Amino acid sequence: MLFKSLLDWLDMKWFLLFLCVFLLIWDYVKTKTTPNFPPGPRAFPFVGNVFYLDPLSPHKYLTKMAEVHGDVYSVRLGQQVFVMVTGFKMAREALMGQADNFVSRSPSAISDRVYAGKGLFLSNGLLWKKQRRFALATLRGLGVGKGSLERAIQEESKIIQDEVSHEKGEPFNPKQMFHNGVANIICAMVFGHRFEYTDQRFQRILHVVSETMYLQSTIWAMLYEIFPSLMKILPGKHNGIFHGFEEVSGYIREELEKHKKDRDPAAPRDYIDTFLDEMETTTEPPEAGFSEANLVLCIVDLLIAGTETTYTTLLWAVLFMIKFPDVQKRVQEEIDAVVGKSRLPSMADRSSLPYTDAVIHESQRMGNILPLGVPYMTVRDTTLGGYFIPKGSNVLFNLNSVLLDENEWKTPNSFDPENFLDADGKFVRKAAFLAFSAGKRVCLGEPLARMELFLFFTSLLQKFTFSVPEGEDPSLEPAGGGIVAPQPYKICAHTR
Ligand code: HEM
Repeated sequence: MLFKSLLDWLDMKWFLLFLCVFLLIWDYVKTKTTPNFPPGPRAFPFVGNVFYLDPLSPHKYLTKMAEVHGDVYSVRLGQQVFVMVTGFKMAREALMGQADNFVSRSPSAISDRVYAGKGLFLSNGLLWKKQRRFALATLRGLGVGKGSLERAIQEESKIIQDEVSHEKGEPFNPKQMFHNGVANIICAMVFGHRFEYTDQRFQRILHVVSETMYLQSTIWAMLYEIFPSLMKILPGKHNGIFHGFEEVSGYIREELEKHKKDRDPAAPRDYIDTFLDEMETTTEPPEAGFSEANLVLCIVDLLIAGTETTYTTLLWAVLFMIKFPDVQKRVQEEIDAVVGKSRLPSMADRSSLPYTDAVIHESQRMGNILPLGVPYMTVRDTTLGGYFIPKGSNVLFNLNSVLLDENEWKTPNSFDPENFLDADGKFVRKAAFLAFSAGKRVCLGEPLARMELFLFFTSLLQKFTFSVPEGEDPSLEPAGGGIVAPQPYKICAHTR
């Protein structure tokens, strides 16, 4: 009996030993790289360097590693090896010099489950190309860069001004107002209508979108990316990501059904109508994605990308204004001189407001809401910085390192609008301003975001002086998240 147990135990021991050796060999083969592949820090089996990353600021470790391994190096995160591109010189070479090589998104277990290759943000190939072209044309058709949309943003600015006035100079957190206002612009474009800020359904969707984005930056999402099959069956916060996407998609499907009932194909009102028209008339193959399932996921992307990014940037901009009251004063003086107080600022004023324009850009540079951009995958063999990067490699652009590149900015690490001004005080476009990234996958909403930031920001500073509530000292340290927001803060707004 004892002898048999010993044999069983030895069998089990050998089995476990064999399993460990097998898993180590499998792990080695799976992450083995080609000769002259960018070098990088030593990695643990299975998890790589993932536990060195601070989930709230992963770019910090990745920037530090570039000091040791150079502007092009590799790092293993879970089962995936990423080529890290650091600093403006290498980012420009890859995104602009070799734009055709850096065009696809890298695979991800979460996006595979949610998107299955559809949508705008994480899709690739023909579907991405056709959908991106359609989205750009449709957003233009719906007013981006034109007076009609400008008026809609001005009207929303007025509503935000009224909301701020209701606070009567008492301390308040502006987050929800900015969130509501920005979300209403993209909602008007995709659904054809805005929402009252008190609308419970609207608030619920905004909350779910934010929460879903946040969960994707947590350790739960990292674990799902490393062990998808296991995590799929385990309880945990990662499940909230999938529930969140499902809830938002469910709402969009309801809007879609309403549109199908009351649309007039001769007069499309919004993104949904325009897409439904395209579905009926398109000569594209099914792989181009003109289907209802894909429409829902494209709208999910537009809602996420079009809301979280822009309102977070506005939060940074107002935070910088209360931390740097002299800068705020100069912006107000410029707005007073050019626009006055009797009308709202318009896009035509922008070229006459160089200091204000510089402040908005500087807020984006220092706010730096997407420090690692969105992961890429090379579509053919390429070389960068003297290293060989084979087709199918994952690539991350450290946009944080570009926006703080010491070779490109007068004062890389401190908030200073002079970074965007010449000696005569004229606004200067800086090539290293890659807040919207660059190349073939450059932010699709950049023109819309620029309009919104300019009109919302200027209308706020035209009407109010913002200050830090007594006894408070808001931090400039980021709170982290998928889209990096400032830590919650309060302001006092005094009508000017
Ligand atoms: C301050 C505001 C914004 C910032 C800083 C920003 C930044 C970015 C960045 C860095 C990317 C990744 C580009 C790359 O892969 O290299 C991106 C992609 C994207 N953005 Fe924005 N964005 C903003 C606003 C918007 C808005 C308002 C929309 C809505 C229309 C939008 C829609 C998108 C979409 C759909 C993509 C994916 C493009 C593709 O993969 O082809 N963004 N954005």
